[in-house]
Parts: sequence; structure tokens; C-alpha cells
Amino acid sequence: MPIRLGVNVDHVATVRNARGGRHPDPVRAAKLAVTAGADGITAHLREDRRHITDDDIRRLREEISAPLNFEMAATDEMLKIALATRPHAACLVPEKRTERTTEGGLEVARAKSALAPKVAFLSQAGIRVSLFIEPDQRQIEAAAEIKAAVVELHTGAWCEAILQGKVHPAEYEFERLRVGARRAHQLGLEVHAGHGLDFETAEAISAFPEIVELNIGHYMIGESIFEGLESIVRKMRTAMERGRSRAKGEAA
Ligand code: PXP
Repeated sequence: MPIRLGVNVDHVATVRNARGGRHPDPVRAAKLAVTAGADGITAHLREDRRHITDDDIRRLREEISAPLNFEMAATDEMLKIALATRPHAACLVPEKRTERTTEGGLEVARAKSALAPKVAFLSQAGIRVSLFIEPDQRQIEAAAEIKAAVVELHTGAWCEAILQGKVHPAEYEFERLRVGARRAHQLGLEVHAGHGLDFETAEAISAFPEIVELNIGHYMIGESIFEGLESIVRKMRTAMERGRSRAKGEAA
């Protein structure tokens, strides 16, 4: 199975919004990313519109040929926008006003009855629904029960443990992701992963054969300042392919 790269352009909008105006344009970044080999574009329209705006989402949908993965909180407002925009996929994420980024996974197990109709609503509109969850058995099983098509496993705790040099927690989190990816795949869910990934962690996790898509933003946009977005997209693809070929080697 090949592995896809979704480039998250939120933080191009963060830089733009620091000054107001139109520059730098996240839609231009998305076009460049696709030209350089990204398989899809991800953007998170937050309730407070701190980076991506409604107009960005509309333009991403209209101007980008690659699939759009619309990250959203499971609110009525966002459901309406998703219905009007008809992105390829909607990734439901938890959202707190005070957080800097999406801190944890969505609580699905305890909110099945609230989430199930939202998953059904989006699915019936032809939008592929992904749930952003911790690699936790209960959450994975609940996602399958409410008939999500996809789970995106939160890699944040693993990446953070690596950055802090915490070897045992990093190994523990990596194992949780491995077991979680397997379980989700067994249950018929498509498995994605993301949050906090860089070249090394993206390469390592690409070795899990069940994972078919990585969504990466902050690190890639940050590195683009030094090397340019097209170069960073190509490097990320190479890192992911290296990781993937290791998976094939192990399976052989
Ligand atoms: N996947 C989801 C669901 C996210 O919320 C985010 C952050 O917006 C990402 C992936 C990308 O994370 P990062 O910007 O740390 O690469």
C-alpha cells in the first residue's frame, strides 16, 4: 500500500494573519505543495478563525485539484460549512479555545450517541469522515461502531516524548501507535496519522503498513522558511518512502 502525504497549510495563514492582508496566501502554498508531490491538502477552520478563514476554505476547495481534508470541530456551524463546501474528507477534532494546537484526541467512546448522527450526516453528503483519536482501543472500537470511514491516530504524545529525549515513554507511545494501527485496520477502518511529525518521525511511522496517510503541517511550514516549500515536500515524501520500504523489507 502506498502512503499519502497531506500537507496542512494552517500556519501559512498564521503568518498572514500576523499582519492582516493577503500575504502569504495558504492557497498558493497548497498549489505549490501539490505541484511538489503532496497527495492532499488539510486545513482546520477553527471556531475562532485564528488561522484559516471561511474564504480560505472556499478557495482551497475551488482552486486546488487535490483532495481537501477539512479539519473541523463537531459543531452545527462546522457541519453547515462542510455541507456547503463538500470537501473530499472531514476530520473531526476536539477543539478548545485556549489550546495552541489540537491537544488530545476526540473522545468518541463516551460521546457515541452525540457523534454518530454527525458522522452519518457527513457520510450521506458524500464526505469521507475521519475521527482524530488517541491510539486507544476504546476510541478505535467506538469509531468503528459509529461507522467512521477513517481514524487519524494522534502522534503528538510520541513526537513530544522524542523531542524531550524521553526514551521509554517514546517507545511506549510508538508501541501504542503500532497496536492501534493494527486494531483499526482489523476493524475495517482506514488508518491515518498526524500531529507533531518531522522527517524522522514521519519516516519511522511510515513503516507501519496499515497507515496509508500522514497529515503534516507545522514542521513542514517552519522548515520551508529555510529551504522552500517544494523542497520540503519532496524531502518529506522521500523520508516517507524510505520508511515504507523498510516495512516491505520486514514483511519479506
Ligand atoms: N492532524 C490533525 C487532526 C491536526 O489537528 C493537526 C494539527 O492541526 C495535524 C494533523 C498536523 O499537526 P502538525 O501541524 O503538528 O504537523
